[in-house]
Amino acid sequence: MKHAARHSFLVRPGGRPRGELRVPGDKSISHRAAMLAAIADGETRVHGFLEGADCLATLRVFEAMGVTVTRQGGVLCIAGAGRDGLRPVAGALDLGNSGTSMRLLAGLLAGQAFDSVLTGDASLRKRPMGRVIEPLRQMGADIAGEAGDLAPLRIRGGRSLRGIRYRPPVASAQVKSCVLLAGLYADGDTAVVEPAVSRDHTERMLSAFGVELFRDGDAVGLRGGQRLTGGELRVPADLSSATFFMLAAAIVPGAEVRLTGVGVNPTRDGVIAILRAMGVGIALENERTEGGEPVADLRVTGGALRGIEIDPALVPLAIDEFPAVFVAAACAEGDTVLRGAAELRVKESDRIAVMADGLAALGVPVEVYPDGLRIRGGGADFAFDGGEIDSHGDHRIAMAFAMAGFRARDTIAIRDCANVATSFPGFVAMAREAGLSIEEANG
Ligand code: S3P
Repeated sequence: MKHAARHSFLVRPGGRPRGELRVPGDKSISHRAAMLAAIADGETRVHGFLEGADCLATLRVFEAMGVTVTRQGGVLCIAGAGRDGLRPVAGALDLGNSGTSMRLLAGLLAGQAFDSVLTGDASLRKRPMGRVIEPLRQMGADIAGEAGDLAPLRIRGGRSLRGIRYRPPVASAQVKSCVLLAGLYADGDTAVVEPAVSRDHTERMLSAFGVELFRDGDAVGLRGGQRLTGGELRVPADLSSATFFMLAAAIVPGAEVRLTGVGVNPTRDGVIAILRAMGVGIALENERTEGGEPVADLRVTGGALRGIEIDPALVPLAIDEFPAVFVAAACAEGDTVLRGAAELRVKESDRIAVMADGLAALGVPVEVYPDGLRIRGGGADFAFDGGEIDSHGDHRIAMAFAMAGFRARDTIAIRDCANVATSFPGFVAMAREAGLSIEEANG
């Protein structure tokens, strides 16, 4: 992807974060909306669907499988094909950069009558897929990866799946969701017992589509054969995208940003606890429920930050927010330490290594562990050096370092930023609206 690698952000120092912003729709919830609507009976109207590259990749796959998708104003209308109404596609389904698409679709497609091949970009083809291959095989699926556990994934349809009770070795909403989606097509009960709680958007949305779930002890599960019924859905603003503006406010004393309509699902809101523990003021206003998900307006105020030892129990609840947390940590008084987060090494990039390199390039002392990072915060007088960051095509790393511009002494150039469009179309315009001096460059 030579061309994409040339897409850069240039961020000039200074500015004071401000304003009231509504970031785009939640990525996790948008994926699930597309998938469940596609196999539901009747039409589903989705308000606030994230039109980012990852969710559009999911949507395109279902369109290729015969699902009709139309847009009426800002509403996405998906005409459900019904439980068994998807049609085979000749050739591989390309999911680009999206791990969520690949892992959830693997479960859904394992239960179809036809064969499928799932592939993706260079990053996705390096990410571990054994974590979904293993439980799907236990259910009787015929699925194989390249060199064992990598994409492309080849799925042979027409297998009869059986329900299992699965204990994944890592807390992963993608694995849990994959198994539950396959469970819809399996005989008997399918349940997942996670080592720690992961985001529960799939469970909430299955309920919204009329599927009955059961919980016993730490397990969540469902009986196979249930049908889904389409309806009206509302996608909240994405807390993971809002995090970059929370970071901006957090690192500039006296700054204040208001983020409206943000999803604050308690299985997903670890970043709020972490930033609060570091001294950031975060007020939740107008708390409400939309489409089965808790939502609030967040008022975030910057102040003096302190370094903390991050509770490892918060790792699955803040798994996508660590690039931003690490940038905040550089501005704190004292060290911030994260352990128990080896999962960060298998995200869109190795987020421990890539963040450590980027922080070091901007003058921040870091110590790298196999499962985390120690960051020496510079305290009240700290400013990032100017410099060049390689985001390795990782959207969240690019956006986290862009916000460092608010606390920098010189220009920061961030390379390989095209994938910001996977989760946050319009990021640059919104960052400008919030007061950041940011430009895009190609070359
Ligand atoms: C996601 C789950 C998380 C997260 C990813 C989205 C989801 O991955 O990192 O960005 O939508 O289920 P894991 O569940 O594999 O940790």
